[in-house]
Amino acid sequence: MTLLPTNRPRRRRRTGAIRQLVREHELAPSDLIQPLFVVHGSRLEREIGSMPDVFQLSVDESLDREADRVRSLGIQAVLLFGVPASKDETGSENYAENGIVQQALRRLRSRHPDLLLISDLCCCEYTSHGHCGVVRNGSVDNDATLEILARAAVSHAAAGADIIAPSGMMDGMVATIRAALDGAGYADQAILSYAVKYASAFYGPFREAAQSAPAFGDRRQYQMDPANVREAVLEAALDEAEGADLLMVKPALAYLDVVRAVRERTQLPLLAYNVSGEYSMVKAAARQGWIDEGRVVIEALTGMRRAGADAIITYHAKAAAAMLAQQAGQ
Ligand code: PBG
Repeated sequence: MTLLPTNRPRRRRRTGAIRQLVREHELAPSDLIQPLFVVHGSRLEREIGSMPDVFQLSVDESLDREADRVRSLGIQAVLLFGVPASKDETGSENYAENGIVQQALRRLRSRHPDLLLISDLCCCEYTSHGHCGVVRNGSVDNDATLEILARAAVSHAAAGADIIAPSGMMDGMVATIRAALDGAGYADQAILSYAVKYASAFYGPFREAAQSAPAFGDRRQYQMDPANVREAVLEAALDEAEGADLLMVKPALAYLDVVRAVRERTQLPLLAYNVSGEYSMVKAAARQGWIDEGRVVIEALTGMRRAGADAIITYHAKAAAAMLAQQAGQ
């Protein structure tokens, strides 16, 4: 005779109502942050070849329309990346009064007062060599780069950024930026540190989008070794001690254990960055008809929330928010 089970977990999965009742983690549009790429020029919506449905936008009606779409879907925050008109050794457009990110921040600030504006503070989009700082003797000089980051942070804050997000993995960047912001009267502007950022091949498509591939070498002297997790906990603790308001782990999908490890050791809000390569792989497979794009996206983003991310930066933000709204209406 078969022994019948007493415990039947399937009872809790029988209907949609009960599945929803016992659901442990939720994903909402307000958990999502949409990255935006801004470029010089007018009336541009230039699709990025390796990132279908992601566009470089000019700072005019093109950007306004995108911000309207983002807001109407219930997404509250955008992360801005600037593609400069010209690049130089120090990446000077990053701290130029009329740089492209500064223009975008001012426009969004005045037209969308309640949209949360996060600006990426890296140098690599702006430098002629494509590295994340000042290059001396063939490698990025940490301390010389800090001076540039301080200047750029103040410039972004002055243009209207709510949150400054340094992504260059320079030692001491959070403390330097905090001091610079406070000294310039921007004590209320927060710092979202890319505290844990790996030297990842998953950034490939982004480098086309932001035109930021390094001209020589790679970023392994400043970004982390993908084999390390204790080091991630250490990086997060250092940035917390330096005054970071929010922390980030990047990339997300191959690093969910890192999200969990950092989550368990800090009380700060933690974000995960679902990066360009993760996005492009889903888009490519979906275009082949090999996966159900919508379901895969919601599953992956839910996994990031389950791993411990409070919010997620993702190129899927708009599509995911639209899907969530549709699900809620069902
Ligand atoms: C700037 C920066 C990068 C990304 C975000 N900020 C590229 C890099 O470090 O090479 C990658 C984002 C993505 O792949 O979506 N340093």
